[in-house]
Amino acid sequence: MENMKTQLSYIGLIGKLIFFILFFSHPVSNGQIQTNNLLTEYLKNPVGIDITHPRFYWKLYSEQQNQVQTAYQILVASTPALLTEKKADMWNSGKIESANSIHVEYAGKALQSRDACWWTVRVWDKNGKPSKWSKQAYFEMGLLSPEDWKAEWIKTSINFDEYSYPSPMFRKEFYIGKNVRKARVYISSLGLYEMKINGKRVGDYLLTPGFTSYDYRNQYQVYDVTSMLNIGNNAIGIILGNGWYRNFNLNRGNMAEKKLQDLMLIFQLEIVYDNGIKEIVCTDSDWKSATGPILMTSIYDGETYDARLDKEGWTSAEFNDNIWQGVEVVKRGKETLVATNNEPVRRIKEIKPVKVIYTPEGDTVLDMGQNMVGWCRLRVNCPRGTTITLRHGEVLDKLGNFYTESLRTAKQTISYTCKGGGVEVYEPRFTFQGFRYVAVSGFPDNVMPEMVTGIVVHSDTESNGHFNSSDSLLNRLYSNISWVQRCNMVDVATDCPQRDERCGWGGDLQLFAPTAIYNRFMASFYTKWLKDLNVEQEANGFIPCTVPFRMGPVFPVTGWSDAATIIPWLLYRRYGDTRILKEQYQRMKDWVEYMRRNSEKGERFEWSQNIQYYGDWLAFKSDGPRGRRYAGSYTDTDLLATLYFYHSTGIVQKSALVLGNEKDALEYLALQDKISNFFLREYVTSTGRISPNTQTAYALALSFGILKEDLTEAASNKLVENIRNVGHITTGLMGTAEICHALSDHGLIEEAYRLLLCKDYPSWLFMVRMGGTTIWERWDSMRPDSTFQLPHMNSFNHPALGSIGNWLYTTVAGINTDPEIPGFKSIVIKPFPGGTLRSVEASYKSLYGNIRSEWKIEENRFKLTVEIPVNTTATIFLPSTGDGVILNGKPLTKADKEEPKNLPYYFQIVEIGSGAYEFESTYVLN
Ligand code: BGC
Repeated sequence: MENMKTQLSYIGLIGKLIFFILFFSHPVSNGQIQTNNLLTEYLKNPVGIDITHPRFYWKLYSEQQNQVQTAYQILVASTPALLTEKKADMWNSGKIESANSIHVEYAGKALQSRDACWWTVRVWDKNGKPSKWSKQAYFEMGLLSPEDWKAEWIKTSINFDEYSYPSPMFRKEFYIGKNVRKARVYISSLGLYEMKINGKRVGDYLLTPGFTSYDYRNQYQVYDVTSMLNIGNNAIGIILGNGWYRNFNLNRGNMAEKKLQDLMLIFQLEIVYDNGIKEIVCTDSDWKSATGPILMTSIYDGETYDARLDKEGWTSAEFNDNIWQGVEVVKRGKETLVATNNEPVRRIKEIKPVKVIYTPEGDTVLDMGQNMVGWCRLRVNCPRGTTITLRHGEVLDKLGNFYTESLRTAKQTISYTCKGGGVEVYEPRFTFQGFRYVAVSGFPDNVMPEMVTGIVVHSDTESNGHFNSSDSLLNRLYSNISWVQRCNMVDVATDCPQRDERCGWGGDLQLFAPTAIYNRFMASFYTKWLKDLNVEQEANGFIPCTVPFRMGPVFPVTGWSDAATIIPWLLYRRYGDTRILKEQYQRMKDWVEYMRRNSEKGERFEWSQNIQYYGDWLAFKSDGPRGRRYAGSYTDTDLLATLYFYHSTGIVQKSALVLGNEKDALEYLALQDKISNFFLREYVTSTGRISPNTQTAYALALSFGILKEDLTEAASNKLVENIRNVGHITTGLMGTAEICHALSDHGLIEEAYRLLLCKDYPSWLFMVRMGGTTIWERWDSMRPDSTFQLPHMNSFNHPALGSIGNWLYTTVAGINTDPEIPGFKSIVIKPFPGGTLRSVEASYKSLYGNIRSEWKIEENRFKLTVEIPVNTTATIFLPSTGDGVILNGKPLTKADKEEPKNLPYYFQIVEIGSGAYEFESTYVLN
């Protein structure tokens, strides 16, 4: 959870006798401030967005310390040549006195469909000295109105059986007689598409058009295909796959009553010739269709491909499609077509198998060395008709056999039948697997590792975070957290990438998001998800557990549906995104009001039966009787529902304040008060004991701030008592995200480190010691004797318990945004050393630039190196056991102090501006 709680609530409380560092800041050179890394709506040069007031972002660089922006000027033009101060035809902002370098909203000429815009920015520094104009950035608008679509939705006229649905292929030829100046394809489908023009694949996006709530939102993509068109005959070939749209597993939730639908395609190619004349080629009744080599394709089950059925050259103009069948135009509106305003899924990395294993049961298994998401590329030379089968699994069992039981019904199987006659290279298109091990069969000779390559595939969000320390197991844990994130961001943040789920479960998503946002640049990824949440939310405030709603119960669930408040608030806190808060505010309120309506009974809150359904899902020890509530969630679910109700209400209250809605702020403050009074009466004794006495109950109560100040110390001691009595962590998904924060917020840092660095079962490092390369779903997914938990709920690639990553950044490395000022404009560097850790190197690329916090303990000294981006300031909290701060080799004469209770050290406080600094203090280890 965003760590904006007690540990940071000191700013403003402490008398601010601030040292000003100007004295120490010697400009390295007279270098000019520079602007770089321009983004539009969080994206680099996006093509086809539909945000009519896009926001601009730039990063600033300077060799000088304490550098800030005092003004900026933006130019936007419709051609690169017009991008000058005199000619900019879309917008010239003029010189704006402002420090804003993020979320600067376009305020030029109204943007229209297809508008192509180049932009540049320059800034003035603290001395009023201007930068050069930045390099040009670009954005292009998509189709802003349904009327822009001249294309029709089409489907193949071939009749398929509902259960056997080979991938339909569509083609169209057209003639070009003149030079093309510009050509764009606008395309979407129900099901997934892959498109070629004149034999070449268009773009590098995968699994398009992505995973959305298809009933309401169909994303289209826009491709620049100017260089792909020829003078003369041209051909388009598009193949569709079932994807998330047409799938029996994903046919629950609001889809329960529906029959599987046919796959559909909509395509519009807009050509502008050199002479300015425009032409459109689009899907209509003239297209041809056929089936080909993809006989079966399914997100979960894999793909069956018979290369003997390849239609050689079908995406080229020379192909003869006389015997192909026609298509049907489908009456389906264009209102649901929306632009894609987030990063596509791409091939990210290739992994070669590290080992070939021959299992006791006789399987030949390739070990990729890493649990991953994506698929395998096959490169084989086999006789015609040879069928090669690849089965994907996450683990080998105790005896070393290939194990797939925990995949439940997901088959994760690729079957490729060779056409023969030479080397064949094949990759599946419309499926992905979560796997480390691949059981191969059908190879005529021994399989060689070079025949199979793992292709890691996920949303191409930028890697933002870095963490390394003196503890190699902890470093592996961090790597596992990074990998679990990669594996669970294939367009939607999922619970797992392998078994028959892979859905946007709100609980998993909100619990892991604080970590995810440190690791990677997730702003547009989550913004896209919120759009789906909005269309799934019902008028009464109901929010389903999975978004897009394809799985799970038809009632909302505490902790899961609360993603509706938590995610927008997180985007505001971490990115300073007020727009998303504004857009989501009513939705957030609706959810809180839903909870109120379903619980409020005068001064009490009694929950309607369903809302607290999952509770602290998969808490240890979860081998009790299986019931409707999953065994293990033994923290009273009413208590958890009350806590989350309080938490979400608090978020709405704070959001109201940010948005200047004082009336609501008062209203929700009063509601929070009422909830906390009830909570204290109902669950907390006067000595700070919470009933039920579980780690999760304490962790959430402390972390969400529901306890009155005089009870927090007692409650935190009870938490420690509980951990010591039990001897290890017992929290489920909910409690795990908060337990270390709850401890460190109350000075109980050593207890938190004991949990973090514990190597015994059950613990995070136990997973690492057992060879985990991602994060498991459960503490006991694999036990010390290498046996597994029950297969029906046992994934080895589940982000939720990886929520500790947030604590690594916020507390171990100490990188935080100011509790009052969002978006890392004002940074707090507050590392909490502890345990046996002796050094940490961490960094986080904020919207302003890179923030670095590196510390080591050496010869009774705490040495901290920080880097603070231009246009931001930072408050440094330097752990110390004795007074005196050395900054860049020179002593500071005085520093403020914060002395939190219980902590074995205190903090000396120094405020700084941008630049790189080295601090040192006395630090004697006990
Ligand atoms: C998922 C979880 C999810 C849960 C709901 C499971 O099957 O994998 O991670 O949150 O259902 O409790």
